[in-house]
Order: sequence, then structure tokens, then C-alpha cells
Amino acid sequence: MPRQILRANASNPASRVSIISQHLAGVPPASTLTPSNSNSLSSIHARSLSSSPTFNMSSQPDHPTLLIPGPIEFDDAVLQSMSHYSESHVGPGFVATFGETLSMLRKLFQTTSPSSQPFVISGSGTLGWDLVAANLVEPGEDVLVLSTGYFSDGFADCLRLYGANVDIVKAPVGSRPQLPEIESALKSKKYKMVTVTHVDTSTGVLSELQKLSETVKSVSPDTLLIVDGVCSVAGEEIDFDAWKLDGVVTASQKAIGCPAGLSISMFSGKAMDAFKARKSQPGSYFASMKNWTPIMQNYEAKKPSYFATPSPQLVHALHTALSLILAKPLSERFAKHKEVSDKIKKTVTDLGLKQVAGNPEDQAHGMTAVYLPESIKATDLLPKLANSGVIFAGGIHKEIASKYIRFGHMGVSVTDPARGDINKALAALENGLTACGYQKA
Ligand SMILES: Cc1ncc(COP(=O)(O)O)c(C=O)c1O
Repeated sequence: MPRQILRANASNPASRVSIISQHLAGVPPASTLTPSNSNSLSSIHARSLSSSPTFNMSSQPDHPTLLIPGPIEFDDAVLQSMSHYSESHVGPGFVATFGETLSMLRKLFQTTSPSSQPFVISGSGTLGWDLVAANLVEPGEDVLVLSTGYFSDGFADCLRLYGANVDIVKAPVGSRPQLPEIESALKSKKYKMVTVTHVDTSTGVLSELQKLSETVKSVSPDTLLIVDGVCSVAGEEIDFDAWKLDGVVTASQKAIGCPAGLSISMFSGKAMDAFKARKSQPGSYFASMKNWTPIMQNYEAKKPSYFATPSPQLVHALHTALSLILAKPLSERFAKHKEVSDKIKKTVTDLGLKQVAGNPEDQAHGMTAVYLPESIKATDLLPKLANSGVIFAGGIHKEIASKYIRFGHMGVSVTDPARGDINKALAALENGLTACGYQKA
């Protein structure tokens, strides 16, 4: 399909619907899909890709490929599902879409426990921190934050703002706190909560959750384990029930592959009980679980409900993104992210460069933070990459900010090799370095 068609008809919803239909080869619009029939969308979508590797998937206007660690590139179907006509946020059509979206989140997080509670609230990933800090901790309670970089420290700041006493176990830049030090911290005090950033987007450090959870549960069984999964959910494996997690907060714009604007989270029955047992009121009005829990439960039961207006367009996009993700086994998706990540990391090493996350076990699979050669500045290299049609991000960890760049490889850029995004980025990186005068030692 010629790219200009989308632009020429962009203000005509009827034309958009026809574009969507053509794109999906006769598949109904995502809003009419239920989790049970949504497989049909993705299998047709996947088939059209695998049977025609050179097919140009995208009907989006030409644009540089966005390979920062979020927001990421969108699947056309996700983007186009936002052009849904306006509907009431309490009307039966939208209530059904929202309800299915919440149920699909249970699958994404791998939780079947009826006491697990999903939330989808308008806001960005940071709202997840507020949700945790305002509802699950009371002023004066102790929280242990495991810090692997800028975002872990941001979570700590948020918790402090709501009155928590925060202790931090901080790893040296590029690594993660080790279990023995976490264990001894847990033995030193009775913590209400431990927070961990699954992937700290400032360093590309991956935290291991399963053994961490075993340690927390064995040393301090009442302590809640809360995960910042903003840069990991849908790219790294998360087995919510099996790993006995109490909360995972994330956002729409990273590996889930949806536009920014939704705070997405899952809390265990134990976390919800801790909320119910609090003596003081939640520390926020908008981020109050008291206000949102009945709304989420009603939507999932397909009953209209209102506390604050949701964004129907974003929820449609999330519904489509989750339908696409869940159309294939999650294990395949995680394996694909790992395979592509391994290839990227090997290329980086072959170019003679080092990663911020030094130990392979600590390296995320949805992003790579790469130290630059001493002679090269990010401000020289990034524009060269942009000239090659690839957008990477600069560093944001304050101790090393000017010394590294970040390459995000999540979602459709990874799962759809026909797009060629990753090979294009690796070639651009090599050429950009050469153009900056770099020669491998
Ligand atoms: C790990 C992590 N946590 C939290 C955030 C904050 O999310 P947002 O920028 O969507 O508010 C980010 C943003 O990149 C992040 O990477």
C-alpha cells in the first residue's frame, strides 16, 4: 500500500477504517476482537509477514526509526486502532474493550490468581511510583530500594515524598546489588516493602527477580516486593504468580508497543490486603487505589463505572497491542528479544566497545547501553545516526552521562525482522563511529 494514502486520508475516519482493513487483510477492527478471537488478528498479521519477507509493513509516513529505550516504534495496527470513532467511556462498546484489556494484562503478567488486581490509569510510568508510594506505604514506614541507576533513585525520591523512610542498597554503576548484601539489609530492619527496577533504563542493568523474591520471602515473608517494570514488561520474562511478586508497575510506551500515556500495573492479593489494612488515607486523590480499584473491577466485569475519564483511544491501542503480543506464546517473544539482544551485544563487542552493564548476566534484553570510545562524543555520533535514519538516546546516568549512548530494541523492531530496523541500526552505528574517526584498536 502506498504510504501517502494514509496521509492523504488522515482526516477521514471511514478511509482509515478501510486502510486498516486492507492492512489486516480483512480482519475486523481491534475493538471488536475479544481475547479469545484476537488470535485471528495476529495470526493473519504474522502470516502476512512470514509469507512475504520483503513486504513493506508500514503504512506510516517515512520517519527515522525510533530505537531509544522507549517510546518505541508502533505496529501499524496499534497506531490505527487509535483512530476509533469517539465513544462514551461508560458505553457498552468501550466497557467491553477496557474489560478485555484488563483480562489480557493478567495473561501478560502471567497471573491466574483471582486476587491479583490490574490497573490501567491515564498517566505515564511515573504514576506507577505514585500508586505504590501513596497506597502501599504509610508515612514513617521503612522501604528498601535496590538501586541500579537513575530510575531506581527516582522511585526512592517518590517514596520519600510520601513520607516513607527509604534505605538504599546501591550497586556500583553498571551492576546490581548482590543477594548477600540484600539479605543482610533485610535482616537489619523490618521493611514494609522492597523495590527493584527490573531494567534500569539509565544503565541497561537487568535485575534478577526470581532469586530476589526467594530471598525476600525467606528472610522477611511479610515484606512486599514491588518491581518497576517500565522498561521490562513484554520484553523480559515476568512470571508474577510463580515468582511471588506483589506488584509490577509499567507503562504503555516501551516493550508493550503502545503510545505513551498509560500507567499499567498489577498487584497481588497480598499487596491489596496491605492497602486495605492501612490506617491512614492514601496520600493521593488521583492515584488512590481506593478510588480506582472498584472502577477496574467493574470494567473487568463489563460494568460501566466512573472515577476519572479514561482515554478510550489509548485503551483501544493497548487492546490491540496486547492482542498482538498474546497471539503467540510469551516464551517465544522473550526468546526473540534475547536472541536479538545477543546479536546486538556481540556486534558492540566486535566493534571494540564496552557496555555499561559489564556482566552478561546483568544485561537487559530490550536495550543496550554502550560506552563510547574516549575520543567520541555522543553529540557527534547521535546526529550521524540520525542522518542514517536511526534515533538512539544519549546517556542519563549522572555519573557517566556524557560517556555512553542507549540503543532500545523492543517490540515490533525485534519481533518483525522484515522491517530491518536492527540491521539498519547496527550498520548505522558502525558507519557513524567510522565517520567520527573511530578505528577499532
Ligand atoms: C525504569 C523506568 N521507570 C520509570 C520511568 C518513568 O516512566 P515515564 O517516563 O513514562 O513517566 C522510566 C522512563 O523511562 C523508566 O525507564
